[in-house]
Amino acid sequence: MVIKPKIRGFICTTAHPVGCAEALKRQIDYVKAQKPIEDPPKHVLVIGASMGYGLASRISLAFGGGASTLGVIYDKPPQGNRTGTAGWYNTETFESCAADAGLYAKTVNGDAFSSDIKDMVIDVIKRDFETVDCIVYSLAAPRRTYDDGTSVSSVLKTVDNEYTNKTINPQTAEITKVTVPTATDEEIENTVKVMGGEDWEAWITALSDAEVLDPKAVTVAYSYIGPELTHPLYKDGTIGKAKEHLVETSKKLESQYDGLSAFVAVNKALVTQSSSAIPVVPLYISILFRVMKEQGCHEGTIEQMYRLFAEKLYNPEGVIPTDENGLIRMDDFEMAPDIQAEVAATWEMVNSDNVRDLADIDGYNHDFLELFGFDVPYVDYDAEI
Ligand code: NAI
Repeated sequence: MVIKPKIRGFICTTAHPVGCAEALKRQIDYVKAQKPIEDPPKHVLVIGASMGYGLASRISLAFGGGASTLGVIYDKPPQGNRTGTAGWYNTETFESCAADAGLYAKTVNGDAFSSDIKDMVIDVIKRDFETVDCIVYSLAAPRRTYDDGTSVSSVLKTVDNEYTNKTINPQTAEITKVTVPTATDEEIENTVKVMGGEDWEAWITALSDAEVLDPKAVTVAYSYIGPELTHPLYKDGTIGKAKEHLVETSKKLESQYDGLSAFVAVNKALVTQSSSAIPVVPLYISILFRVMKEQGCHEGTIEQMYRLFAEKLYNPEGVIPTDENGLIRMDDFEMAPDIQAEVAATWEMVNSDNVRDLADIDGYNHDFLELFGFDVPYVDYDAEI
């Protein structure tokens, strides 16, 4: 069959295996062209390893540090006329590239929130590693199902007052006003259950109870802060409440497990499956990309994650740089005052007529398509697969 993108709202329901493989190999090539990570971890568990920041973390630690990686993903293989998910193809290619490079890479496919998957992962660690010395927690999920079958969903809403601002439909480049409603207490609570630190803690507890947590292990989870214009719906919204809980969890984990280092890294806003679902943010990202590319400081997920592991978490000085709240700031270039001043000035004047000049819509759409293996250079998209 010939595979074309089928975009519905902010998701693409098809994925291109050759394009995913090519895009992934380009991430590997980027890491291989950098200095190796000094003193890297040996046995790494990446929870949420098939897309976005988790995938880039896995690639950086494997190809930049020679680490053995065990990934947890929740993806579908191809079936009949339906393509597999992009994460499925990414993982297939990652495992085969790792094998070619003589690196251990195994993956458990299933719901990371469940106890069954935690047990399965622990069995693999016992058999193949004995312990893990680095755990990357990079889930972005719309809902969480508990072992008893009950489910809770996360919502992207404000906490105090509804918020109206500009948003964009990246496919048509049309800018409209969107009003983000206020969440109920239950919605806030549920978003914290899905995207906060509860499951991160459950993973660390399960690993420790099973005696497969290295006493000097490092664990990291990811957050976002962003500029004031996104605060009502991100930092101060329901997702921000979950991220606050993630930070509290990092402190709790360190006090509970002697020798464990638990960090939250604040990453740059990038086009991933989850960020494209947030209102207002795609327009902000498109403007940010234009400004950062012009200033020569733009990064993608792989540049961010290589820098996190090589220059922060496993830097040769041995002291991990954090801000006054203990957070690792990977959003330093994004939040630089000159970048933010230009983004804010652009935000005021951007409209449907001038958006193609003021914002990097093509770059945004390219990154979105590339997530699913489309618009990747040198791939023949008319070829039968
Ligand atoms: P993503 O959507 O690209 O990747 C999420 C990963 O989690 C995928 O591999 C997906 O398969 C996996 N996953 C989801 N539910 C799962 C489940 N139940 N079991 C197993 N795996 C599951 O998301 P992205 O953007 O990489 O997000 C990762 C983290 O980074 C999140 O905490 C997000 O808030 C954070 N972050 C994202 C930023 C962005 O701009 N994209 C910026 C800063 C932080």
